[in-house]
Amino acid sequence: MNPDYCIYQQRRQRVLQQLGQDGIAIIFAAPEQRRSNDTEFPFRQDSYFYYLTGFPEPESALILNGREQSALLLCRDKDAEREIWTGFRYGPAAARDLFGFDAADSIDQWPQQLSKALPGHRQLLALWGLYPEHDRQIMPLWHTMVQQSGYRAASKGTIAPSELVNLAPMLDQMRLYKDEYEQSLMRTAAEISAQAHIRAMQTTRPGQFEYQVEAEILHEFMMRGARFPSYNSIVAGGKNACCLHYVDNAARLNSGDLLMIDAGAEYQMYAGDISRTFPVNGRFTPAQKAVYEIVLAVNQTSITATVTGADWQQISQQAIHQLTQGLIDLGLLQGSVERNIETNAYRRFYMHGLGHWLGLDVHDVGGRFNGQGEPLLLQPGMVTTVEPGLYIAAADDIPPEFHHIGVRIEDNVLVKESGNEVLTASVPKDIDAIEALMHH
Ligand code: GLY
Ligand code: MN
Ligand code: MN
Repeated sequence: MNPDYCIYQQRRQRVLQQLGQDGIAIIFAAPEQRRSNDTEFPFRQDSYFYYLTGFPEPESALILNGREQSALLLCRDKDAEREIWTGFRYGPAAARDLFGFDAADSIDQWPQQLSKALPGHRQLLALWGLYPEHDRQIMPLWHTMVQQSGYRAASKGTIAPSELVNLAPMLDQMRLYKDEYEQSLMRTAAEISAQAHIRAMQTTRPGQFEYQVEAEILHEFMMRGARFPSYNSIVAGGKNACCLHYVDNAARLNSGDLLMIDAGAEYQMYAGDISRTFPVNGRFTPAQKAVYEIVLAVNQTSITATVTGADWQQISQQAIHQLTQGLIDLGLLQGSVERNIETNAYRRFYMHGLGHWLGLDVHDVGGRFNGQGEPLLLQPGMVTTVEPGLYIAAADDIPPEFHHIGVRIEDNVLVKESGNEVLTASVPKDIDAIEALMHH
């Protein structure tokens, strides 16, 4: 076995322990996605499957057998002719040896292998709902078994599972805490993302198109070993920044406008996710500066508060409070902070959350509450984004100098035993530092 893959074997062992003698789990690779006739989107492995296998190929599955405490990989067979067209495949035998599975078989055999392994397990766990076509394939196998042997039958060893259980909560709980290896990959993903934002600040000029800035970003990602962005880059000049998930990136950049970029690299499956906002011509106007300073202060206060034991809901509430006060100071909201929060008036200018978990998925799994609905307090190894923003669309009741100002400042923060580590610290966010970089 290649030692690089030990980490995945250890994760499988942790899942097998939690399954105990009673549970059997099946996890599928991601499907390939057609882009147009005879061409596919670049393949991206399923995050759960990857987390437990490190195995890169589509048309694969993993069966974790609790009774035997064993891991079976199902994957594509070697096929000399197909490999000439679509490239190398490991094949079951080599995959088993290299990636450290107990056994491997052809992917065609997964229904037979699952049916064979089901008897005697009380629970069948799967990522129900993630790939409905697989749910539809699993159900008839289970039905057949229930009809043949029943799940109340006395003879242990032949009974069908009586519980179909969602595997996601167990895996989500594991994925929420990034181990040292994951932390180092995320550090790299964040640093590559940061360098791409720096390049964008250095190269942006009035008159360019947004997609030309996007090209600089993707260039930097790839030159540094990140083949893909972790989500479609948002390169939004002027009023486009007020559209939260703008991905057209097709407009011309005007001097006097701000440019909001939300872009992150995916490095060895782990996501970076950075937003920065800067003036197209390199100088903030007084109104842009005023809005920017409010968002920056909230970004910094919130990051300082992102430490072990803290309650994310409280940090988010504090951010809303601070942004609302800022909007009142600018004259964009009237009345008290409390009243503007009570009536949701602030939401006209700040309409998203303060952040999300980050990991294999850019919006990573885990949730912000535990099973009892209580807030999950921050713990070492968790990685969250911190991304306050203000978005001021043009309207009659807004002074013209504030029209079309959209600002988001987003960093990636690793919670540590003491304090935190801002993984995205290399890319400037102070006004002076940004202006200096742009005029260098
Ligand atoms: N890039 C998507 C987000 O910030 O949530
Ligand atoms: Mn984000
Ligand atoms: Mn983002």
